[in-house]
Amino acid sequence: MNNQEIINEIRKKIDIVDLISEYVPLVQKGRNYFGICPFHNDTNPSMSVSREKQIYKCFSCGASGNIFTFVSEYENISFREALEKLSSRVGYSITHSRVKKDNVDSKLYEIYDIALKFYQNNINTKEGKEAKKYLHDRSIDDDIIKNFKIGYSLSKDNILMELLLKKGYSYRDMQDIGLVIDNHDMYIDRIMFPLYDPNGRVVGFSGRIYGDKKGNKYVNTKETKIFKKGNCLYNYHIAKEVVREKGYVIVMEGFMDVIRASSIGLSNTVALMGTALTKEQITLIKKLSLNVVLCFDGDTAGARATLSVGRDLEKVGLNPKVIELNNNDDPDTYILKYGKDRFYSLVENAINFSDYKINNLKNHVNFNSDVELANYVDNVLKEVSLIKDEIRREIIIKKLAIETNLSYNTLEKRLSTYLDKTETKEIIKQIDKPKDTRYEKAIKSLLYGMLTSDKIIEKCKKENICFVKPVHRYLSNEIIYNYEKYGSVTIADMYTYLADNKELLALLNEINSTDEYNCTDVAIDDYINVIKKYNMNQEIKRLNELLKKENDLIEKSKIAEKIRLIKIGENSNGQ
Ligand code: GTP
Ligand code: MN
Repeated sequence: MNNQEIINEIRKKIDIVDLISEYVPLVQKGRNYFGICPFHNDTNPSMSVSREKQIYKCFSCGASGNIFTFVSEYENISFREALEKLSSRVGYSITHSRVKKDNVDSKLYEIYDIALKFYQNNINTKEGKEAKKYLHDRSIDDDIIKNFKIGYSLSKDNILMELLLKKGYSYRDMQDIGLVIDNHDMYIDRIMFPLYDPNGRVVGFSGRIYGDKKGNKYVNTKETKIFKKGNCLYNYHIAKEVVREKGYVIVMEGFMDVIRASSIGLSNTVALMGTALTKEQITLIKKLSLNVVLCFDGDTAGARATLSVGRDLEKVGLNPKVIELNNNDDPDTYILKYGKDRFYSLVENAINFSDYKINNLKNHVNFNSDVELANYVDNVLKEVSLIKDEIRREIIIKKLAIETNLSYNTLEKRLSTYLDKTETKEIIKQIDKPKDTRYEKAIKSLLYGMLTSDKIIEKCKKENICFVKPVHRYLSNEIIYNYEKYGSVTIADMYTYLADNKELLALLNEINSTDEYNCTDVAIDDYINVIKKYNMNQEIKRLNELLKKENDLIEKSKIAEKIRLIKIGENSNGQ
């Protein structure tokens, strides 16, 4: 078996429904399975997985592919890496086709690895004593220091720079990567926290000041090709494994909070890095779990962050829960003060985000003022209108009726006007994309036919169909080529063959975005006619343009004759 055949074997051995179920809960409906799409901000289950075809596709964002593309997209790894990962699962090894590593990138990783070891070593030396004592005083013991690979950059300048120069890295490399600035070590006398990408590779550092020194509390490495702050969540690479077992993820504000939570067995915790939540971070969180618990600092900034992050998560269909701490606490200090059991019980009793928002609306309302009270009721009802569960809506309105001494009916009537609005919004969202022309429909249907039936491939070969657009032509050629090479073609395998070709993959996705193709013999004949007619018209158009530009009479008559012949051909063909 050659490499490609082995890959096809692996694909056949791993059932796509089983595989995707490990990442996303799937529910069977008819012949297909459905789940929340992890590749866009999905609220309804728009991703369908077909056991028959061994592919997945999202009807909303258009993502689609086979087992390899799923793992590659989901885990943020290359197609090759996904292939290697899945091959070992079924006892194959495809290492002889190793990936060419990008030299530039691997150099960055190497430098960070050296720096990591350097910082880790320093904290255990005499120079690192004070930094270590600071950590110990904060109850960060040696085990935690080791687990989180916390280190120390020396107070003497240029030691790291010289070490890296000695190892053959250029000054420029160190500067590009953010470890050296203006001929000096970037980090001097700071406690160093390595930052990881979702796959667990060190891609930067955050250096914390300690003792009574002056300066920014944390300094992060600058953004590089491999480090984008907005794409990172602290501890994500660890949490992603633990969340699978615990079934939920806790989101906190700071490094220290996550480190503390991990020390009491809650490694399913990630931290924002002091920024507003980015789209990438939302996607990362959603990939971890649909059950999110927010536990931010107890101050007003923390409350503001809870509201804003909660809203962002709500927009993508998540219903986060919230833990509220006292004004002076963050998760780190809370756990230190009250211990593991009390924190666990906070997690268990976390409240729904919609309840949190509604509680929050109550703050500072003067219940004696008619205007303020009416305003408050309105705001609560607006929030209630966003809740999908009718029973919960009713419970909240009943409570609100008692609280405000208004009748249930009045509240319900007002709520229904808000509910109408949310529903209209959802309908507007679902407006159809522009419809394909007859020709485009014929092209797509025919290509789909080729992807699903050997007979149709044979027919297209025989009819010698010419696709005018290069991308259509390339795809048809790829299908025929692989058909001839392996004896048959499936959509699932096409995703492997085209893995390196973005343009063709996009076309494959587009073709695959619907199932509504008619591929009966009669329909196929019709598509072929439509395509041939279109091609002729294009050719006639082109010749007419030539005719206009041509001055030589003999040439002119030659072109006119060509046009006439095509037109005859059209009549004899299109009866
Ligand atoms: P401790 O104060 O040591 O307990 O750290 P913390 O992790 O609790 O930090 P805090 O809650 O004050 O801030 C939350 C997060 O914001 C931190 O983990 C950092 O990622 C980020 N942050 C805080 N201060 C700074 C700063 O001065 N510069 C930068 N770049 N980020 C900061
Ligand atoms: Mn803190």
